[in-house]
Amino acid sequence: MKALVLAAGTGTRLRPVTHTGAKQLVPVANKPVLFYALEAIVETGITDVAIVVGPSAEDIKEAVGDGSAFGIDVTYICQATPLGLAHAVKISQDFLGDEDFLMYLGDNFVGGGVAHFTDEFRRSRPSAQILLTTVPDPSAFGVAELDLNGRVVSLEEKPVRPRSDLAVMGVYLFTSAIHEGIHEIKPSPRGELEITHAIQWLIEEGRDVRSTVTTDYWRDTGNVADMLEVNRHVLDRTGDSARVEGEVDADSTLIGAVRIEPGARVLGSRIEGPVVIGPGTVVTDSRIGPYTSIGGDCEITGSGISSSIVLHASTVRGVPSITASLIGRYTTVTSAPAGNHTHQLVLGDHTRVTLAG
Ligand code: G1P
Repeated sequence: MKALVLAAGTGTRLRPVTHTGAKQLVPVANKPVLFYALEAIVETGITDVAIVVGPSAEDIKEAVGDGSAFGIDVTYICQATPLGLAHAVKISQDFLGDEDFLMYLGDNFVGGGVAHFTDEFRRSRPSAQILLTTVPDPSAFGVAELDLNGRVVSLEEKPVRPRSDLAVMGVYLFTSAIHEGIHEIKPSPRGELEITHAIQWLIEEGRDVRSTVTTDYWRDTGNVADMLEVNRHVLDRTGDSARVEGEVDADSTLIGAVRIEPGARVLGSRIEGPVVIGPGTVVTDSRIGPYTSIGGDCEITGSGISSSIVLHASTVRGVPSITASLIGRYTTVTSAPAGNHTHQLVLGDHTRVTLAG
């Protein structure tokens, strides 16, 4: 069995961070989202993995390399234009051959891993097996309708009037039958070859399409709120005790699960876990946490940050109350000199800023 990881999406809802970096590489608890997917694949025992990459191909190749760090063998397949998930499978046919495969969307986070679903598929080998979960806003996803026996009767991509609240998660198991379905479908109104349409074709052909409804933790990290939520989820599971590999001075207080990575320094600060502070970062006279990940080589001085992700090499100085924020790499957020009540902003394209009044 092989695995196909789709990581070609551009991440428009995570702009401006995704103008200069891949959405699949945004760190959650200081580790790229994509790495959690690769680790979940490793747990299934699959070692032959292709990653479909788009505009941020070089960044992804640099981060994942040949896969040996994960114990897998990674091949890269280029999807130059975003023509849909089924199109990504189509251009991967040489790699996939006639083998069964696990397809995993590289921006999806599945809390309990996917090994148990993969084992179930290996035992029964239906043409397709999808994972479903109840969501409050099904119209943002592929939506499945099940009959009384739990069989999938229809699938719709982002329906205006969803027939159920069961969203299709970004983890699919297929035999080579899916290639027949992909061959038959036409692009959707959004111009993409939808994998949901190819699965719907299998259903209409009377093939065996099964679903597993799961309550396992799952998020598509395509927007800032869900990315921060996954960060919270992962940090919550980092254990109860502090792991200090950097330096913490006597004037600082650490509460709960705080990870200070090698070369980081915490001076005169209060860190309320769960929090991770990356290598080489210096936190001075600040309050960090809870639920906050600070990347490496940052400077946080005289500031307060909670429920946020700060990426590599950014500076936050003199800003007392930052919350629910995603701060990109090499970014500077500072307070104005005393007496200056104006805001000075130099913002990248598609940036969103919410200022306190
Ligand atoms: C894709 C699929 C959709 C699925 C979702 C899960 O949507 O098309 O059916 O529910 O992933 O993350 P997209 O992220 O491309 O909008």
